[in-house]
Amino acid sequence: MDLKLKNKKVLVLASSRGIGKEVANKYAEEGASVIITGRNEDVLKKTANEINQKMAGEVTPYVTDVTKKKDINRLFGFVREHFGILDVLVSNAGGPPIIDFEMSDEADWYDAFELTLMSSVRSIQRAIPLMKENGQGRIVYIASSSIKEPISELLLSNIFRSGVQALCKSLAKDYAKDHILINVVGPGKIKTDRLISIDQKNAEKHHVELETWQDNIQKSIPIGRYGTPDEFADATVFLGSYRNTYITGQTMLIDGGMVNAY
Ligand SMILES: NC(=O)c1ccc[n+]([C@@H]2O[C@H](COP(=O)([O-])OP(=O)(O)OC[C@H]3O[C@@H](n4cnc5c(N)ncnc54)[C@H](OP(=O)(O)O)[C@@H]3O)[C@@H](O)[C@H]2O)c1
Repeated sequence: MDLKLKNKKVLVLASSRGIGKEVANKYAEEGASVIITGRNEDVLKKTANEINQKMAGEVTPYVTDVTKKKDINRLFGFVREHFGILDVLVSNAGGPPIIDFEMSDEADWYDAFELTLMSSVRSIQRAIPLMKENGQGRIVYIASSSIKEPISELLLSNIFRSGVQALCKSLAKDYAKDHILINVVGPGKIKTDRLISIDQKNAEKHHVELETWQDNIQKSIPIGRYGTPDEFADATVFLGSYRNTYITGQTMLIDGGMVNAY
C-alpha cells in the first residue's frame, strides 16, 4: 500500500526511544523527511544516525523538552526554516508519573498539565498554520488506553490525556475543511523501556520476579502478549498519512483487545 508519504515533511515529538522512535523509523522507511526530538542529545543523535544509515528518508535530530514553551517555539522556528511547511505532526511525550491522590502535591498536577496537555496544545497550535499553508496535513496524538478505561495508578494520564483527546475531536471538526485530519492512537501495553520499568516497579512492589509479573499480564491480554513498537507504528503511520483520506476525529486503541470499553 502506498502511504503517499514520499518526500513529505514529518515532525515526531519525543522520538529518540520507544514508540516515537519506531514511528519516526516507519515514516523514514516510507521516504519522508523526519525531524525527531527528545531531551537527551546523545541518544537523539544516535537514533537519527541509526535510522539514516538504513533508510531512504532523511532524519534530523532537534533537542527539545516538550514541557517547555520556549523549546516548542524554537522547534517550530526550526521546522519552518528546515521544511517551510509541515505535512504530519505526531504529538508524543514521556508519560506522567504514578501518584497517590491523597499524597499528591499541586506541583504534580501542574507538571503533568505541562507535560501531557500543554505540550500537545502548543505543538498542534503551531503545526496548524504550517499545514494550512501546505493545503493539507495529518495530526496523530499518541495517548494511552487510559482515555477509554482509567488505569488506577496513572491518575494524571487518565485526566490530562482525556483533555488532549477532547482537543483533537474538537479540532478535527474545525479543520476538516482545510484538509487537516486529526486522530488519536492509544497504546495498550507496547514493549518499550517505559513499559519494562513500570513492570519492574510493580514486580518489586508485589515481591515477584519480573518475568512472572509480565507473564501474568500477558495472559490477561486477549491476544496473549505485549504489542511491539512496530505493530503500534503501522497503525499510527497509516492514520498520519495521505493514504488516510476519510478518518478524522477518531480514537483507536492498539491494545491486543485488552480494554473492555467500545
Ligand atoms: N509503552 C506503552 O505500552 C504505553 C502505554 C500507554 C501509554 N504510553 C505512552 O506513550 C508515550 C511513549 O511511551 P514509550 O513507551 O515509547 O516511552 P519511552 O520508551 O520511555 O520513550 C519516551 C520518549 O519520549 C522522550 N521524552 C520523554 N520526556 C520528554 C520531554 N519532556 N520532552 C521531549 N521528549 C521527551 C524520551 O527521550 P528523552 O528522555 O531523551 O527526552 C523518549 O524518546 C508515553 O507518553 C507513554 O506514557 C505508552
